[in-house]
Amino acid sequence: MNDAPPRTPEREAFYRELAPHHMAPLWEVLHALITREPLTPCVPVIWHYDEVRPYLLRSGALITAKEAERRVLILENPALAGKSAATHTLYAGLQLILPGEVAPAHRHSQSALRFVIEGEGAYTAVDGERTYMSPGDFIITPSWTWHDHGNDSDKPMVWLDGLDIPLVSFLDAGFMEPGNAETQMVTRPPGDSLARYGAGLLPVDWQPSSKTSPVFNYPYARTRKALEQMKRQQEWDPCHGLKLRYVNPATGEHAMPTMSSFMQLLPADFAGSSYRSTDGVVYVCVEGEGETRIGGERLHWRPRDVFVVPSWASHSHHARTESVLFSFSDRTVQEKLGLWREQRG
Ligand SMILES: [Fe+2]
Repeated sequence: MNDAPPRTPEREAFYRELAPHHMAPLWEVLHALITREPLTPCVPVIWHYDEVRPYLLRSGALITAKEAERRVLILENPALAGKSAATHTLYAGLQLILPGEVAPAHRHSQSALRFVIEGEGAYTAVDGERTYMSPGDFIITPSWTWHDHGNDSDKPMVWLDGLDIPLVSFLDAGFMEPGNAETQMVTRPPGDSLARYGAGLLPVDWQPSSKTSPVFNYPYARTRKALEQMKRQQEWDPCHGLKLRYVNPATGEHAMPTMSSFMQLLPADFAGSSYRSTDGVVYVCVEGEGETRIGGERLHWRPRDVFVVPSWASHSHHARTESVLFSFSDRTVQEKLGLWREQRG
């Protein structure tokens, strides 16, 4: 697209006449509306966990989980300050729950994922089932399902919350309902969903009632084992290493309707090829050490660090030691709309 045509006194006068009628000339803004390629304002950014953790613990002394409803420090993209967003469509935050605390039950149309960063033994309850969480576990609270969290362990627990808040807000499609009780009734034993839906089998007459995976905890132990087994074949993708996506076992689709999630293994001394895609991605380093190069920037990551690769930003992953990265993005939304693109090299 060319730049906007020059402004003349006659044109300026015409534009002023249009304004009270709530109209505007397209040719003044067309070049900014329809661009040759994505031009996100989002920038690469990394939060090092050892720098963030003291602030999280201070928030724990400042406010209870009950009073806060959710005690979370939002991870904001510096280019979207004040917008509670890590990318244009995704929210990310670090949630702290201290021993004995409860984050009360509620439900909302926004979907949420939890990626466990620190601690062991706190639970997330979804629709009457509690799942106890360990580092690296990927947990889903599907759209419009009751959920609450509690920490029965004797240590603080921290996880990354990933939600589609900015996307749902853009669509003006958000609803929320607080629960009547702090914690919901437990109606099924822990592990029920994983056994019922996550063993490569499904109950014979079961029909999905939602667009989200019926499995709501994908334990890290299983994910890691799969990667460990697969790496024996040494079939490394030049950009991604060994990359798996979390799926809904009932459909083969991404596990959640609005967010895609992934786990990838990079071998020691991996020097990834350049890659870009239209989905802005939030990453968490689970194991290892390395860096992601984006343009002139180098995001050096270690375990528990969180970082963002913006939409259509060419980048490459480099691992010093064998590394595992979790990530999530809006890729599944873009795929459904026929918008998702990638480019290698
Ligand atoms: Fe929630």
